[in-house]
Amino acid sequence: MAFQVGLLGLGTVGTGTMQILLDPDQRHPLLRELEVYRVGVRSLDKPRSVDLPPEKFTTDLESIVTDPAVDVVIEVIGGLEPARSLILQAIAHGKHVVTANKAVIARYGDEIFTAANAAGVYVLLEAAVAGGIPVIEPLKQSLGVNRIQAVTGIVNGTTNYILTRMQREGGDFAEILADAQRLGYAEADPTADVDGLDAGDKIAILASLAFNGRINLEKVHREGIRSVSAADITYAERLGFVIKLLAIARRLEGVAADGQPQLEVRVHPTLVPTTHPLASVSDVYNAILIEGDPIGQVMFFGPGAGAGPTASAVVSDVLNIAAILKVGREAATSDETRKHLPLDPLLACSHQHYCAIAPMEDLVTRFYARFLTHDQPGVIGKLGTCFGDRGVSLESIVQTGLRDSLAEIVVVTHDVREGNFRQALDDIRAMGAVESIPSVLRVL
Ligand code: HSE
Repeated sequence: MAFQVGLLGLGTVGTGTMQILLDPDQRHPLLRELEVYRVGVRSLDKPRSVDLPPEKFTTDLESIVTDPAVDVVIEVIGGLEPARSLILQAIAHGKHVVTANKAVIARYGDEIFTAANAAGVYVLLEAAVAGGIPVIEPLKQSLGVNRIQAVTGIVNGTTNYILTRMQREGGDFAEILADAQRLGYAEADPTADVDGLDAGDKIAILASLAFNGRINLEKVHREGIRSVSAADITYAERLGFVIKLLAIARRLEGVAADGQPQLEVRVHPTLVPTTHPLASVSDVYNAILIEGDPIGQVMFFGPGAGAGPTASAVVSDVLNIAAILKVGREAATSDETRKHLPLDPLLACSHQHYCAIAPMEDLVTRFYARFLTHDQPGVIGKLGTCFGDRGVSLESIVQTGLRDSLAEIVVVTHDVREGNFRQALDDIRAMGAVESIPSVLRVL
């Protein structure tokens, strides 16, 4: 018995999804049992590159998610609405859902998974994080027994492309962004990517799976790459680092007042030692390093976006659901049990509580800071005193030359509490000898 699939959206990912569904040759044989029941599109007039009879298309997306014949709904329209409402409607009508929508899951995961568990359906989202890279399923299943300590990722291809080009060409952010937009690597409105919001959604989802709790997106620190300059990239390189937009979720020692594990969950440009496995992940590629006990370190690398890679994740999720349904339906003894199959606990969402997320001022990390100062005696001494007074220990301090007749001083600290480091910067600003602090970046 075939599985009826309703597809919402025929943009880049939707088209890639159709191409796999319509071309099952030499792929898993179960793919042949997936039937495209209907495709929801915005306009029926647009020419389509997929080979489907016209009656399969509809602009009435609601008719797909409510149709009793549909088993699985694929949501690849993106954006918050109507995607969220359609997902919820599909669930309410007993459909399993496969989505690539990180924005909806990161914001409304609570509502969606509560509804899905109540309805006894799956909501799978491999494509929502890092496109074609399998990372959701490994966190749920293959790494399921590990006590995860940290998930550290380059999960936004656009910013990785921009930073890689800034590094190779020595260009500044604005000019490389404009060129990336011209070449189609960055959106006309690049906000979600360059301001760290897209990566924030993704790390919230990864953290939720890695640490078995829900994540309040508001508490995820999200900082983008607009302030990264060519000068910082050059200094970083001299000091043995590359600058990457990292998304980090880490378990802290001890527990919060409510007994839940405490996490730090953050996105920001970071100086990564050139010897670190993430340092060599360049261009539009994504990678996610997972550290756990007893696995140690495992890194997933690959294409984080694009029609084919994202569709690979989407259709594999559909295949997973079809496999479970097939076994369950064949084993079921009545129509009733066939309709209400128990959920596989490794694939369904199994947590309700929210994780405690520590404030950024309590983060302990190394910092890189660049100062422009008047070239006069005692400035470095005064900087050192301000840091020392706040308990900030310096790993290195270099004055490399003059920029616009001001001395440029670059400091890298040892591990320090962010709150103490920020207080020292306030003291330095108040001291007067420093003209400006053009950049402050965290170091991995
Ligand atoms: N805009 C995302 C990126 C791709 O640049 O990685 C989709 O998640």
